[in-house]
Amino acid sequence: MAQPVISATGLYTPPHSISNDELVESFNTFVANFNKEHAAEIEAGTVEALLPSSTAFIEKASGIKSRYVMDKDGILDPERMCPCIPERSNDELSILAEVAVDAARKAMKAADKKPEDIDAVVLACSNLQRAYPAMAIEVQNELGIGGFAFDMVVGCASAVYGIQMAVDLIRNGTAKCVLVANPEITCGHMNYRERDSHFIFGDVATALIIEDAATCTVNGAFEIVSARLKSQFSNNIRNNFGFLNRCAEEHAHDPDKLFVQEGRKVFREVVPLVSDMIVSHLKDEGFTPGDIKRMWLHQANCNMNDLIAKKVLGREPTQLESPVILDEYANTSSAGSIIAFHKYHDDLAPGDLGLMCAFGAGYSAASLLLKKRA
Ligand code: COA
Repeated sequence: MAQPVISATGLYTPPHSISNDELVESFNTFVANFNKEHAAEIEAGTVEALLPSSTAFIEKASGIKSRYVMDKDGILDPERMCPCIPERSNDELSILAEVAVDAARKAMKAADKKPEDIDAVVLACSNLQRAYPAMAIEVQNELGIGGFAFDMVVGCASAVYGIQMAVDLIRNGTAKCVLVANPEITCGHMNYRERDSHFIFGDVATALIIEDAATCTVNGAFEIVSARLKSQFSNNIRNNFGFLNRCAEEHAHDPDKLFVQEGRKVFREVVPLVSDMIVSHLKDEGFTPGDIKRMWLHQANCNMNDLIAKKVLGREPTQLESPVILDEYANTSSAGSIIAFHKYHDDLAPGDLGLMCAFGAGYSAASLLLKKRA
């Protein structure tokens, strides 16, 4: 029976970073302009005045201090508030594939894999650039990988669902070595004019090499001991963008065609769902939370992560027990728990257990029990 392992990870970080102060300044200029332009309607009570954002609120409510983005100028321009990402010809590599390929090359190098060693590509992320051909096939082609490739979209749990898909492919004998790539260009689905959520997301790409332990040649790989996947329908995180939008053109550009959420409800409903899932996963495997050296949690909100870790451990977690990367990266959708893993795993000792857990739109949630090898 094959024993799938994570043999290495790769991380692509975009060149531009936006601080909360920069983002808030742009947002508040937009608000001031809007309120000035609509002063008469606001006075007459027919238009509601917009309220300003604040850095203090963002940091307290979410723990986010900055985010990386593919384009800074377009987002910060109060007249535009949308990244400028020029369209490319069909002969050029798509931007979503480009960032995935960058992370994938780093993961392949770290795992000591050549394209011919890999026989499947799973591209798992929240937002695909197009309907078809699959983004995964473009990545496969650019890297010169044989075999097969496909896309998976499961909100912020996409990457961990993608890893479990790779595990199943390896256990079934369908593939021997799988590249899982998670390109998250989240600035494309952000509504930078929306006060409740303009600060939430950042861009990044991660990649992992998943293979049978028997073919792994690098030290310090992590055995994927077991997984739990859970989904439960909710409208509290939603994006109605899709190929049928043009059939109802009067609504084609409404704000619901971008990311929208009921943040407080998400917080309330997801915390128990995820903490119960982690505790019962560990119990099923014969472990207690005290047996776990590290939790690599989805990075949406530091207060949420603290509460989940507290419910699991029965006490406050330390930074090393539940590392936070969202202060620098913000919510990078499905890549968040992979970035936390990428940056915080070298110090674990052989035999140490860790748990990766992602959660988000759907609701979708997934936990992976990992064990460090020698
Ligand atoms: N600047 C200043 N004030 C703001 C603000 C902003 N940008 N946005 C909202 N506020 C105000 C609200 O108007 C509200 O004011 P009121 O108390 O006078 O009504 C107050 O701040 C609290 O707003 P609320 O939306 O309840 O904040 P919150 O503490 O719930 O934090 C989130 C908001 C989004 C950070 C938080 O709910 C969250 O992260 N939830 C989980 C989301 C999640 O995990 N999503 C998964 C996505 S993949």
